[in-house]
Amino acid sequence: MTSADDFHGAGVLVTGAAKGIGAATAALFAEHGARVYPTDVDSVTGVASAAEYGAADRFRVLDVRDEDAWEAVVADMAADGASLQVLVNSAGAAIKAPLAETTLDGFRRMLELNLVGTFLGVRAAARHMRPGGAVVNISSLRGVLATAELGAYGASKFGVRALTRVAAIELADKGIRVNDVCPGSIDTEITAVPDFASDDMDSYVRSIPMQRRGSPTEVAEVIRFLADPRSSYITGVDLLVDGGTGAGVRTPKKNAESLT
Ligand SMILES: NC(=O)c1ccc[n+]([C@@H]2O[C@H](COP(=O)([O-])OP(=O)(O)OC[C@H]3O[C@@H](n4cnc5c(N)ncnc54)[C@H](O)[C@@H]3O)[C@@H](O)[C@H]2O)c1
Repeated sequence: MTSADDFHGAGVLVTGAAKGIGAATAALFAEHGARVYPTDVDSVTGVASAAEYGAADRFRVLDVRDEDAWEAVVADMAADGASLQVLVNSAGAAIKAPLAETTLDGFRRMLELNLVGTFLGVRAAARHMRPGGAVVNISSLRGVLATAELGAYGASKFGVRALTRVAAIELADKGIRVNDVCPGSIDTEITAVPDFASDDMDSYVRSIPMQRRGSPTEVAEVIRFLADPRSSYITGVDLLVDGGTGAGVRTPKKNAESLT
């Protein structure tokens, strides 16, 4: 077994795998020899992206809010000869609004997708994953640092961290590890939503200690690390992938030169 083959044949289910962090994660696991099952609600983009790493035939439609669909996908994997060894819960979306302007429907949609969707995935793992398996949830730096105008999103992502810890404790004696990553600002479509992107991206980037945004692959590499059996004594942690933003406050410098 080579390091490029260290997930050889492992059944890896990734949600939200059509784009962004989920797509980069699915591709990275495939590169490491895994038998990846990319899932998403967007089958057109999902199949096209899966084709790039040879998994188009294993793409499955999975709306993470649908509990029956979870059972069906896991059963389908088993029928296909793959057991669930790694689960990455990446499906998610964001809305940005002050609490006073957040609609009840919008708040519920955030919880339903980001938190209930992750809960159903964690529960599927609790029911079907074998010892030695690993779950990696995607919270957010906004699930660590309360952020104005991200009340609904932040509540869902703080919730993901709570769920991660409870699952880690409950599943430890089954030999299943559960961790989460908390990305800072990563260059994907989620942050391109006009009302989500920072009004002043340049000054925002200057506030990041590393003075740049992260890439989906940089997050995928950390997800792979947490899922790797060699991380065998890590469970119940939040790993920030944020260029140092969560470490503390950086005074923005006007016209500072980029470090990259
Ligand atoms: N990009 C960032 O800066 C950032 C920062 C912190 C956390 N995150 C989190 O990372 C995760 C991935 O985000 P991304 O940046 O890759 O976003 P993205 O918009 O690029 O990808 C999200 C994917 O989720 C899918 N999706 C949406 N609703 C779904 C549903 N009901 N069921 C299944 N799939 C669904 C979309 O079709 C899309 O493919 C999200 O949970 C997000 O909150 C992103």
